[in-house]
Amino acid sequence: MNYPKGDGVMEKTHSHRQRWSSRLGIIMAVAGSAVGLGNFLRFPAKVAANGGGAFMIPYFISLLLLGIPLMWIEWTLGRYGGGFGHGTAPGIFHSIWQKNRFIKYFGVIGIFGPLVIFIYYTYIESWTLAYSFFALAGKYSGLSAQADMKNFLSGYQGLEQNQHFSSLGPAYIFFLITFLLNAIIIYKGIKGGIERFCKWAMPALFFCALILFVRVLTLGAPDPAKPDWNIINGLGFVWNPDWTALKSARVWLEAAGQIFFTLSVGIGVILTYASYLSKGDDIVLSGTTATSVNEFAEVILGGSVILPAAFVFFGPVDIQNIAQSGLFNLGFVTMPLVLKQMPLSSLMGFAWFFLLFLAGITSSVSLAQPAVAFLEDEFNIKRGRAVLIFGAVAFILCHPAIFFLKNGVVDELDFWGGTLCLVVFATVEVILFSWVFGMENAWSEVHHGADMEVPKIYKFIIKYITPLFLITILGAWLYQDWLKVIFMEGVPPENRIYILATRLTLLIMFIVLAVLVRHAWRRKYREEVRP
Ligand code: PFF
Repeated sequence: MNYPKGDGVMEKTHSHRQRWSSRLGIIMAVAGSAVGLGNFLRFPAKVAANGGGAFMIPYFISLLLLGIPLMWIEWTLGRYGGGFGHGTAPGIFHSIWQKNRFIKYFGVIGIFGPLVIFIYYTYIESWTLAYSFFALAGKYSGLSAQADMKNFLSGYQGLEQNQHFSSLGPAYIFFLITFLLNAIIIYKGIKGGIERFCKWAMPALFFCALILFVRVLTLGAPDPAKPDWNIINGLGFVWNPDWTALKSARVWLEAAGQIFFTLSVGIGVILTYASYLSKGDDIVLSGTTATSVNEFAEVILGGSVILPAAFVFFGPVDIQNIAQSGLFNLGFVTMPLVLKQMPLSSLMGFAWFFLLFLAGITSSVSLAQPAVAFLEDEFNIKRGRAVLIFGAVAFILCHPAIFFLKNGVVDELDFWGGTLCLVVFATVEVILFSWVFGMENAWSEVHHGADMEVPKIYKFIIKYITPLFLITILGAWLYQDWLKVIFMEGVPPENRIYILATRLTLLIMFIVLAVLVRHAWRRKYREEVRP
């Protein structure tokens, strides 16, 4: 149904492409990509920094109007493109709009964005592996004040030399281990690596989360002098809405950004995963299930573990301060201290950090896959070599994030790769889907092999509301912040050179990828016209 004739080259059947082995497998893999550090570190920090419950309204509206539609769109476009042998956005976009010579270059974002996120995400993921060991080994068990725990983190990250760490050595070793683990999983392929790993990692992750969840919900009020600092008020902090925050454009931007980041949509990763589906595979129910699993992990577990627990021990004012003072403080400073106050504290600490590690690695492998798939699909490079090439390039690119963390390199990468690219790419995708592919075509494509129907209202939402919402966000950003970002307003003078170097590197990365796309198309074209 609705598989129009391709451009000859792409019309071949692509039975040699890898496939997921089961529906459960793909759901676990997509949920694995979605459930990540974003759910347990980024989300609580965003909620706390944006006034608690206030954040939840734009968050849920963004989920309904952006997140869920884009999830279905990416699953659909991905499966469609896979039918033409394309697993990444340049090829997938080209299959949809064959007459347009430029659309494939917009697709470059779908390889570039995940690669940019990968190079800092993997490093942060490696901290969680390190902290899992530290928790079990009791390395921070003697520390009981926030300031000490912060020192410990700064020492580990190499921001300062102190009594805990004298060099970046331990962080580098844990990074190497984490990188290698990622490479092994990707090397083993879609079915034998990613799917197999996610099938055990996801239940293990939920098991750890459940232990922590039950433990936190049964916390009493620890300080008799402050009876208000209890778990009910902690939950209230997350859930009580503050309508006035809806007037702040920034809160809306943050909420939309969080939805994209947490669902892994708007960046090309789900496109790639969905390209390994077969034509008849259901996508509506599977996509919805993966989204629900992510939201459960984010809102119920992420929102109801870390924040209420921090609230009980530190009170409402302190949590906002902690969250505002850095994205990682809630997870790496406050949480270990909270868990230390409980029986079996080292096991609890381990459960927390290992949960983060599993969440992280099931996401980072998904970030690597588009680049690997691009080399395989568009250059016919064998998987082993593709992983080797990707590994070598990504490994080098990770180094600025490791060594120049204190100069703002990670934040800069997160802004371009983890925020702006998402909104731009999502806008291109939704317009292609509903206006170029055509809503009628798109609608039947979505439902091909589906076990469940998408509510009709989404036809209207996807065609008008989602693009309008995205364009408004982009427009508001361009209007308010564009010049400030370009001229590095607020960046300390000593860091400017690092930020500039990061931007230059990103630009070069983008250009190289665009040139590769051009090269791949030229090769294919030549192959096609040859008798
Ligand atoms: N969704 C992941 C998280 O919440 O941590 C991060 C992520 C993975 C973002 C894959 C984007 C992506 F393509």
